[in-house]
Amino acid sequence: MTGNYEIVHHTYDVVVMGAGGAGLRATFGMAEKGLSTACITKVFPTRSHTVAAQGGMSASLGNMGPDDWRWHMYDTVKGSDWLGDQDAIEYMCREAVPAVIELEHYGVPFSRTDDGRIYQRPFGGMTTNYGEGIAQRTCAAADRTGHAILHTLYQQALKHQAEFFIEYFAIDLIMEGGVCRGVIAWELATGALHVFRARTVVLASGGYGRAYFSCTSAHTCTGDGNAMVLRAGLPLQDMEFVQFHPTGIYGSGALITEGVRGEGGYLTNANGERFMERYAPNAKDLASRDVVSRAMTIEINEGRGVGAEKDHIHLHLEHLGPEVINERLPGISESARIFAGVDVTREPIPVLPTVHYNMGGIPTNYHGEVVTLRDGDPDSVVPGLMAIGEAACVSVHGANRLGSNSLLDIVVFGRAAALRCAEVLDTNASQPALPQDATEAIIERFDAIRYANGATPTAELRLRMQRAMQTHGAVFRTGELLQEGVEKLANIRKDFADVKVTDRSLIWNTDLVETLELENLIAQAVVTLSGAANRTESRGGHAREDYAERDDEKWMKHTLAWDEPGGKVRIGYRPVHMNTLTDDVETIPPKARVY
Ligand code: FUM
Repeated sequence: MTGNYEIVHHTYDVVVMGAGGAGLRATFGMAEKGLSTACITKVFPTRSHTVAAQGGMSASLGNMGPDDWRWHMYDTVKGSDWLGDQDAIEYMCREAVPAVIELEHYGVPFSRTDDGRIYQRPFGGMTTNYGEGIAQRTCAAADRTGHAILHTLYQQALKHQAEFFIEYFAIDLIMEGGVCRGVIAWELATGALHVFRARTVVLASGGYGRAYFSCTSAHTCTGDGNAMVLRAGLPLQDMEFVQFHPTGIYGSGALITEGVRGEGGYLTNANGERFMERYAPNAKDLASRDVVSRAMTIEINEGRGVGAEKDHIHLHLEHLGPEVINERLPGISESARIFAGVDVTREPIPVLPTVHYNMGGIPTNYHGEVVTLRDGDPDSVVPGLMAIGEAACVSVHGANRLGSNSLLDIVVFGRAAALRCAEVLDTNASQPALPQDATEAIIERFDAIRYANGATPTAELRLRMQRAMQTHGAVFRTGELLQEGVEKLANIRKDFADVKVTDRSLIWNTDLVETLELENLIAQAVVTLSGAANRTESRGGHAREDYAERDDEKWMKHTLAWDEPGGKVRIGYRPVHMNTLTDDVETIPPKARVY
C-alpha cells in the first residue's frame, strides 16, 4: 500500500490504452508477434465507440466499378484541404485493400453483391479518375459496419490470448527524461491502482467529442490519452480542426450515416429545395462533410431552415423504398424512429450538423510513433510512446476527414503500430526500475481530485464547458467569437479548482471518473479554441468568417499546442509532409477545391 492505495505492479513489452478498433488491432497484432501485451480499457471492448460507426470502411477494391488506390489518395489529400501528410496518406490508401481482405478473412460479415463480393457504396468526396466520377469505395456491413468490425477484432484478440484489463481508468503516463516508461490505471471494480511498466505505451483512446454539447460521440469519448499527453509536457496537433457531421438527428445528435446519401438520400430546406446543387454542383449531397455542414448552416442562418424554429434541415430517403432501406439502412431506420419519432419510409428525418470527429490529436508518423518538435527537428520521435486511431494525428485527415476513412485509419495504423513494435522492440533487454517520483506525482493528482471539496458540481462545470465549445468552436468562427471562447474556458478551468466530488470511495466511483474526464476535456477544449483563434485562415473544418480564404503561403503547416503551467497555451508548428512514401505516385500539389 502507498498511502491508502493498494498498488499492483505489472511489466509488459507493450501496453495499449483503449479497446476500440485501433486498440484491438494493435493489441492482437502485438500478441501475434510474440510481444507480451496488455490492453487497458475503461469500457468493455465491444462497447467502445467504434461500435457506433455505421456507413463503412473505404478501400479501392473496385468491386462495384473501376477504382485505384491513387484516386483514393488524391481524394484524401484534397479532402484534407492539403493539410494531410502525403506519405502517411499514401501508406493508408495502399494498405486499404489488403486491410479489408484481411478483415474479411478474420470473419467480418460484410454485405455482399449478387455475385458474392464485398458490397461498396458511394461516400462523400470519394471519386474516380481524380475527381471525374463518383467512386463506390466504402465497404459496408449494412449500416452497422463498426459493430461488425469491432466484434471481429475482439474475437481475434481473444484468439491470440492478449491480456485485457477491463474497466480500468488510465490516469497518467509515467515519463522519465522525455521517455515514456509506462502508465498508471485505476481498477474500477476493486479500487486498486495498477502500475504498468512497458517498453512502449500505445494510446488508442479515441476522440474528445464530449467537449461539445451536441455530438455523435459516446459519453466515454473524453480524449483521456490526449490529455495525458498534454500533462506529460508534449503537444497536440491541429486541434482546431473539429468535424461536424451533416446529419446528426435534430435534438439528440444521434448519427444518421452518410451512407443514406450514398444510397441516394438527399437534403432539402424549407422551400423543399435540394440546396446542395447550388453549393456543390458536381458532388451535390455527396460533397465532403465540411462543405455540406457549412451549406446547411448557411441555409438555416438565412432563414431557410425547416420546423417551427426554422433551425434544422430535412434528410429524405422515403423514395428509396422499404426494400433498400431494410437491407442497407436498418440501423438508422431504428435510430430515426427512436430519437425523432420518424418512419423513414414515409417522412424525412430532421437533421443538423453535429460534432463527429477530431482531426487533431497526438502527432505521429505513419508507424504510429509519437513525434514532437525537439531541437529544431519537427519529426523527433518520443521514445516509448505511440498513438493510433482518433487519438492520433498521423496526419491522414488533415483539415477534414472523408467519411469511411476512419474505420480504415484505425485498422491500418493499429496494424502498423504492431509491425513497428515487432521490428524495433528488444524483448530480451531488462526494463529498468520506474522513477519513484513520477508515480508519486500521478497518485497525488488523483488523490487531490478524489478529495476535491469545492462548491461546484462536476455536471455544472461540464455543461458550461460544453455550451462554450458549442457556441465558440462552431461550424463558422470569427476571431472575436473565438477569443471570447478562450476567455470563457480560462474561467471554467479556474473554477475547476472549486469542483466538488461527493463520493470518496474507490469502488465504481462514477463521480470521480467523470471529474477526471472533465479535467481531461477542459485541457483539450482550451487547446482547441486557442489553436482556432491563432489560425487566421479557412481550411477544411476550420471556417473563419473574418479570414474566408485558405492561405497556403502562411498556413500550410500543422499547429502544435502545448498546455503550459498556469493555463497558457504555447503554439508551434510542423511542416506538412508533401513528400510521398514511394516513387509510385507524385506529390499532389495544392489547388483550389472545386465541388
Ligand atoms: O456517416 C457515417 O457512416 C460515418 C462514417 C465515418 O465517420 O467515417
